[in-house]
Amino acid sequence: MFLKPLRHFFVIFLLLATYSIPCTAEKILVVGTGYVGLITGVCLADIGNDVICLDIDEKKIDGLKNGTVPFFEPGIQDLVKTNIAKGRLKFTTDYAAAVTASDICFLALPTPQHENGACNLDYLKASVKQIAAHMDHPLILVNKSTAIVGTTKELGALLQTELSAQKKELSFEIADNPEFLREGSAINDFMYPDRIVIGVENKSAEEKLRRLYEPFQQRTKIVVMDIASAEMTKYAANTMLAARISLINELSRLCEQVGADITQVSKAVGLDKRIGPAFLNAGLGYGGSCLPKDVKALKAFAEQWGCPTKMLDAIDSVNEDQKQQLGQKIHDYFASRGGLEGKTIGIWGLAFKPNTDDMRYAPSLIVIDRLIKEGAIVKVYDPEAMGTFSQLMQPGSQLKLCANAKEAAADTDAVVLVTEWAEFQTAPLSEVIKTMKGHVFFDGRNQYNPKKMNDIGFSYISIGKLPTLIQLKQD
Ligand SMILES: NC(=O)c1ccc[n+]([C@@H]2O[C@H](COP(=O)([O-])OP(=O)(O)OC[C@H]3O[C@@H](n4cnc5c(N)ncnc54)[C@H](O)[C@@H]3O)[C@@H](O)[C@H]2O)c1
Repeated sequence: MFLKPLRHFFVIFLLLATYSIPCTAEKILVVGTGYVGLITGVCLADIGNDVICLDIDEKKIDGLKNGTVPFFEPGIQDLVKTNIAKGRLKFTTDYAAAVTASDICFLALPTPQHENGACNLDYLKASVKQIAAHMDHPLILVNKSTAIVGTTKELGALLQTELSAQKKELSFEIADNPEFLREGSAINDFMYPDRIVIGVENKSAEEKLRRLYEPFQQRTKIVVMDIASAEMTKYAANTMLAARISLINELSRLCEQVGADITQVSKAVGLDKRIGPAFLNAGLGYGGSCLPKDVKALKAFAEQWGCPTKMLDAIDSVNEDQKQQLGQKIHDYFASRGGLEGKTIGIWGLAFKPNTDDMRYAPSLIVIDRLIKEGAIVKVYDPEAMGTFSQLMQPGSQLKLCANAKEAAADTDAVVLVTEWAEFQTAPLSEVIKTMKGHVFFDGRNQYNPKKMNDIGFSYISIGKLPTLIQLKQD
């Protein structure tokens, strides 16, 4: 425990030392201070630009003005404080002040799904109307949100219509600059991206964005293309990642049937240079705010254009099935042991993945919901997501919030690993089992060695391999 502050200090020192690269200061507005907007704003400020981050959420902006970040992301808190102190980073809810002071305007706004899965552009359009209302000089409008092909041009047309309606003769340019950062490693991903994609329709917009991203030129490829291709690149990347996850998950089910071990299969397959090891871990299906909605949005968009969606349909439906797998395994195990009614189950990990407190489309919600419906008492713990979780599910007689992993496991019939935080991998399992009523461990992320789990005394049930059950007298 005492090492945690030291580790944070070291990470912050590294971030500050390596990221600060001087650049020509641009006047930037980032609209939306969520995961993407805040990281974009802070990182662009950190390389020397003058950045204003704008949001309509006053509480969020009040907190940020004092250096309080509304979500957990390693390293962000200190970068916010440093750049506020250096006078390069400001926060506001005032469109008028922000738009008049900026030359490059990034949109990092929600693009949720409509009921049919299609991409909802309402937030983007509302923001463009605000920008038009206060625009008093030429600027470049850059969409960073994930939005379906045609969106950036549609926003440009809307901006023009609004300006004309207000009889303002102002020029502007448009661009699409999709973001590929991952929550949990967002600062590093922004500062050291695999590539920067810029979609433009003229040389002048290209030059402006090349100048902005000049400090990145030494460390990554800047890929310039037309706007439609840039918009499509983001969806292609996300559906490709989702496809790998769904395929490995489908193979994991076959492994369970035929007695193969998906962990060994993934490892060996990933050593093939044509395939590579990333996104080959079988688990509980993909969650989070991006992959589920982006696969559905691309599917709805393709259908609208009359294009086949067989792959997209399969990616999505395999994922929907996979999200039910762990709950089903727990149900099946207890079915011959009196059912789940009255059993106590400990859940380790709630966030949709480690190193974030983001609960959007987290598989834990599906597992917990099922356990509660079947009458179990559920004790939950996550290192960072207890706050965001309790906004979605209220504690009560069947749902207990715990202060740590040991407390969540104590007096339980089973422990279920849902999110693979590092602290669970090093948990003292031989101590943990002594505090439990039962002796079964469900591992939704294949984090442990089955033989070692059996040696500790656990019956071990994971994903894509045969369960290794220990027969005790009470079984
Ligand atoms: N979260 C990720 O990991 C990630 C990664 C890559 C791309 N994206 C994409 O980036 C976009 C933003 O995602 P996010 O996760 O940052 O969203 P978010 O929900 O965390 O943040 C969006 C912010 O926009 C604000 N907002 C809404 N309407 C506004 C308006 N009219 N004016 C100003 N602010 C407004 C909200 O208050 C909120 O703070 C989405 O299109 C998403 O798909 C997200």
